[in-house]
Amino acid sequence: MEPVITDSQPAPPLLVLSDLSMAFGGLVAVDRVTTRVADGQIKGLIGPNGAGKTTVFNLVTGIYPPSGGHVEFGGERLIGLEPHEIAARGITRTFQNVRLFAHMSVLENVMVGLHLQTRAGLLAAALRTRATRREEARIHADARDLLDEVGLAGRAGDRATDLPFGLQRTLEIARALAARPRLLLLDEPAAGLTAPERRRLGSLIRRIRDDGTTIVLVEHDMEFVMGLVDELLVLDHGSVIAEGTPAEIQSDASVIAAYLGAPER
Ligand SMILES: Nc1ncnc2c1ncn2[C@@H]1O[C@H](COP(=O)(O)OP(=O)(O)OP(=O)(O)O)[C@@H](O)[C@H]1O
Ligand SMILES: [Mg+2]
Repeated sequence: MEPVITDSQPAPPLLVLSDLSMAFGGLVAVDRVTTRVADGQIKGLIGPNGAGKTTVFNLVTGIYPPSGGHVEFGGERLIGLEPHEIAARGITRTFQNVRLFAHMSVLENVMVGLHLQTRAGLLAAALRTRATRREEARIHADARDLLDEVGLAGRAGDRATDLPFGLQRTLEIARALAARPRLLLLDEPAAGLTAPERRRLGSLIRRIRDDGTTIVLVEHDMEFVMGLVDELLVLDHGSVIAEGTPAEIQSDASVIAAYLGAPER
């Protein structure tokens, strides 16, 4: 008999982590983490302070070579690739502490993200050939479109660091989107935002997903994360302690214990 193929088959995973581990000296920060992120999903990565969430992002983006395990993206193994090679394959991120080019304008910060994916090299840019001038004009227009998408068009000429904190976070997301990633990693994007800013961020994240970018989101604000994600992965002391829908995770005894047992830092 032919196998039955239905429309409800799950999408093939975009990102697969297999037994991913990272030790810093004697400290195992990430301990055999295995998970999948489906194409088109918003996946939350939660866990108490020091659980290893940011380290997972650092491993996926090639900042550290893992002590063990694999990262597979779109069917390709990423281990051994440089961070810029991984970005070129379609994974970009934001940082837990906002990182913007302080001396540049809002528009220029997004243009930097676009320059990373242009064909014309630095030498060509320095010579300012006709092709690079055309490319420059395209980058300028694309950067304006991106600012428009995230609601920052009116601030294009402002110095990046003159923006209120919430908008600096939005700008960092716009810069990460400039490379038109397939996967966007957001490390605590809602931290430090006011309630209205969080609501706007939530709609922006949904919009980015609806436009075709898969998202993994680290977040401590449970209300924010539970209302946004399709699925959650919970880490504690580097290990996966639970994975499932927000409803499943909210009633998971080991998750509740990990949070209640975690001392404040
Ligand atoms: N480069 C490093 N060198 C040594 N130890 C590190 C390094 N990076 C992270 N760690 C340690 O690894 C553990 C996991 O850190 P990580 O930053 O991944 O946690 P996190 O889940 O992101 O925490 P938080 O919620 O506080 O951001 C911590 O004990 C941290 O001190
Ligand atoms: Mg972190």
